[in-house]
Amino acid sequence: MCGIIGCVGRGDETLDTLVHGLSKLEYRGYDSAGVALTSTDEPVSICKNAGDIDGLKQALESVSLSGEVGIGHTRWSTHGPPTDANAHPHQDCHGSVAVVHNGIIENYQELRDELVGAGHTFTSDTDTEVIPHLIERELEDGANPEAAVRSAVAQLDGSFAVAVVVAGTESVFAARNDSPLVLGLTEEATFLASDVPAFRDFTDQVVYLDDGEFARLDADGWTVTDTAGTVVDKEVNTVEWDPEETGKSGYDHYMLKEIHEQPRALRQCLRGRVDELSASVDIGDLGDLSPTGVQFVACGTSYHAALYGAQLFQAAGIPAQAFLASEYATGVPPIGDALVVGVTQSGETADTLSALREARSRGARTLAVTNVVGSTVARECDHALYIRAGPEIGVAASKTFASQLAALNLLALGTTSTDDTREVIAALRDLPGQVQSILDSSAAEAVAELYQDADAYFFIGRGQQFPVALEGALKMKEITYKHAEGFAAGELKHGPLALVTEKTPVFAVVTGDDERARKTVGNIKEVEARDAPVVAVTDGQNDAARYADEVLELPETHPRAAAVLANIHLQLVSYHTAALLGRPIDKPRNLAKSVTVE
Ligand code: F6R
Repeated sequence: MCGIIGCVGRGDETLDTLVHGLSKLEYRGYDSAGVALTSTDEPVSICKNAGDIDGLKQALESVSLSGEVGIGHTRWSTHGPPTDANAHPHQDCHGSVAVVHNGIIENYQELRDELVGAGHTFTSDTDTEVIPHLIERELEDGANPEAAVRSAVAQLDGSFAVAVVVAGTESVFAARNDSPLVLGLTEEATFLASDVPAFRDFTDQVVYLDDGEFARLDADGWTVTDTAGTVVDKEVNTVEWDPEETGKSGYDHYMLKEIHEQPRALRQCLRGRVDELSASVDIGDLGDLSPTGVQFVACGTSYHAALYGAQLFQAAGIPAQAFLASEYATGVPPIGDALVVGVTQSGETADTLSALREARSRGARTLAVTNVVGSTVARECDHALYIRAGPEIGVAASKTFASQLAALNLLALGTTSTDDTREVIAALRDLPGQVQSILDSSAAEAVAELYQDADAYFFIGRGQQFPVALEGALKMKEITYKHAEGFAAGELKHGPLALVTEKTPVFAVVTGDDERARKTVGNIKEVEARDAPVVAVTDGQNDAARYADEVLELPETHPRAAAVLANIHLQLVSYHTAALLGRPIDKPRNLAKSVTVE
């Protein structure tokens, strides 16, 4: 959700470095993009426009920007449509200050009214534009650039990561409150960005900023200070993934690459954490969690993983519920002594962070299940369990969902006891190989071709396959722009069946041969009787295939592992449908990967 970047020390390469970094941050938003450069003897020069980074590159061909200090931005709109005027960087009246911002300034209207009253002219609809004008006012009052930026930031309410350049200085100033910001360090240069991929090609040494901190990047180094200006002794971390992991490796889209990375992601998640001989799980130094109750909070795909996770704890006799983080944050149910678990791939989702903060303020113990080491959620929660999926760039989550399900199994196995621990561990062990064979042989592309013209798609499942049905539908709507809904199989007849026609394929995820499976097969017959095409995602242990028009085959496994496998087929169906429809798969309209506003 908006990506920002800044760098000092790259000399003539500054502009290229910024544009390269923005291309790595484009998953955070692609409504518009821009850069600003300056140096001691150059004014601030900017180039920005509506559209993606390729559009910015074209625009840069017809302007000449110079300077050895710079900032850049790729936007996901919150205030004002994606126009050239609303693109960042934003400037003051005299063009001597440039600001990029990720977040929302909640008091921008009153600040803007005040500044307009004092004679400032605004040229955009954004909340961000108040910041350069506040800095300008401070400079006019005699403050030096750093003091001016500090003073402006102190007047802001809301969430922000901001980076600022001021004409005549060779510094980038930055501040963070509730929006991510990380520094990248080399001997010669210092970077800052919303996320590590922006500068990972140059360094693996990083410093994560905390809320309320202020950074200054200069040619001879960097400092981080608190609101009072006292230097903060920051830990330098080493990033453990390689720069190549953020490339497409020959795939047409990041999403397809990430779908195919699932065997490796699962292996990484499980490595060193399960011991088959003793049928035990070691999830590291999480302490003695022994939860007597669990409340999951999450959004979107991660919420579907949370629904699945809650079922794992329920199966072990522990009361557990999954909540949409955005609802939980404003209406916290009684927590008692439940462990509150935030499931979030990015670790930066504002709704999830807000729900966890609310829970913590009521005395709850909190655990983050996340993919990003050093993310806000990992730092704020009492404990963190990493899913180890590696960087995910495609806006639609794919490999991180599989890894979340695997990690939640580890969490449940490691903190509760069930009769089938040995079977689950064996199923987890087999999972990467089974995912690979589905990737190698799935009939998903043929199914996508068959139903690409459908009016709508429905997905049904029971028990652990219900979250998979929801996830199948979310993926389909997100990247194909087609109407898709997921339902608990038994709910179809309570209303949604009215939507079912011969133009609405129904994907039924049904595994095993228990009561649940038999009931879902009954639901398949109900839609078949209404002439809807049925695609069964099944392991052949029940009658689903008999009533289906198409079958996406699963190997026999534990129902928990079957959920991961079924989802692979559904990801591929959505992917191929979107490809056939010519959709921009990695950059679906109106979306961004890391949603850092509530
Ligand atoms: C869907 C998707 C989103 C995210 C949601 C939460 O494909 O990616 O629904 O799952 O925005 O994001 P995280 O997991 O980063 O908290």
